[in-house]
Amino acid sequence: MELAAVTGLKGKVTVPGDKSISHRCIMFGAIAKGTTVVHNFLQGADCRATIHCFRNLGIEIEDREDSVIVHGKGLHGLQAPTQLLDVGNSGTTTRLIAGILAGQPFDSKLSGDDSLNSRPMKRIIEPLTEMGADITSILHNGCAPLYITPATLRGIHYDSPVASAQVKSCILLAGLYADGETTVTEPALSRNHTELMLREFGADIRFTHALDSTKATASIRPCEELYGQNITVPGDISSAAYFIAAGLLVPDSEILVQNVGINPTRAGLLKVCEDMGGDITLLNEQTEGGEPIADVLVRTSKLHGTTIQDDLIPTLIDEIPMIAVMASQAEGTTIIKDAAELKVKETDRIETVTDNLKAMGCDITPTEDGMIIRGGSPLHGATIHTLLDHRIAMAFSIAALIADGTTKILDSQCVDVSYPNFYDTFENLL
Ligand code: S3P
Repeated sequence: MELAAVTGLKGKVTVPGDKSISHRCIMFGAIAKGTTVVHNFLQGADCRATIHCFRNLGIEIEDREDSVIVHGKGLHGLQAPTQLLDVGNSGTTTRLIAGILAGQPFDSKLSGDDSLNSRPMKRIIEPLTEMGADITSILHNGCAPLYITPATLRGIHYDSPVASAQVKSCILLAGLYADGETTVTEPALSRNHTELMLREFGADIRFTHALDSTKATASIRPCEELYGQNITVPGDISSAAYFIAAGLLVPDSEILVQNVGINPTRAGLLKVCEDMGGDITLLNEQTEGGEPIADVLVRTSKLHGTTIQDDLIPTLIDEIPMIAVMASQAEGTTIIKDAAELKVKETDRIETVTDNLKAMGCDITPTEDGMIIRGGSPLHGATIHTLLDHRIAMAFSIAALIADGTTKILDSQCVDVSYPNFYDTFENLL
């Protein structure tokens, strides 16, 4: 994909359904009794991998024009897979499904693409093993492929070293199959879609956020059954981020991004835009299925640097590539720290962001847990090495819109992972 500078992006955009929530609708629907109807499901490659895995576990999932219908078989209705479960590029599929599979009376094997198979799985192997699960890294390297065999699970209290919704959700899902209560404490609250949605499905789940620290705790007890739900998935704020940034950065722009999920555990980007001086207004705020949504109106703004750290990080972890590009255009310095988790995403995003922004002429220094960006210099067209990371492809496509010359995005089709129509959508704004 080759892109060049534009001006005056104007119009309305509706971004696709939230990736995290779409995954969970399929997974929880599969182990619930009855039918789960999902509107605005994200038909990206990651969520398709989840559908594929659950079909392989004996669940009928219908793809309709306007919805996805999951014919759940209850907590104990999954069948032994006939093949290896292919999780593709999806960390969420892998880590959440592993929690469910740990409690099943059959063997299963999970494997994904090269990126997925190099991401850390010890973070789920360790707590699941503490629960009594039998889960091994087939190559003994702490990564997928994973092999899971039947075991009796017991409830534990797990003090997670990382604020990760994937780790938290994995343990809570295994907790559905354990004796007694399972509790996870994380150092800062990560996205809480699992807690909100499992409660809607009828799980016995509680969650609290400590008042005197950033720590958050969620607990689950086994229940008789979960029950199928009707769910409308909010627009994904992680996809909206690219249009929000485009609206702020591209001269003479005004974009209305409609129907965006603004759950506080996901909406750190909005706070950062505000802190940087961005002209952003939330309209039509409402709640759907326990998840807050709004339309986001964005106008071109003069940005200034900021510091992003601590418990704000889990609320914007996937938006950091886009924020880094915004920071390159802000006056002054932006410091991003406490974000070592960036190293274990689809790529090492400290490296991929730094290398590509440097190639475009930005003054950026990587650090152990983030980056320092001295903003204010113009960007120049360059060749962007996405390394097949969808968020790098999209963030740098927006960078291309404000860079002089032509920018070439290598392997741009990887946007399919979370946003198959990304390039068509922003053509509508020209
Ligand atoms: C996700 C959680 C986050 C996020 C990922 C989706 C989820 O990962 O980066 O894109 O759906 O639970 P971690 O939980 O590992 O931080």
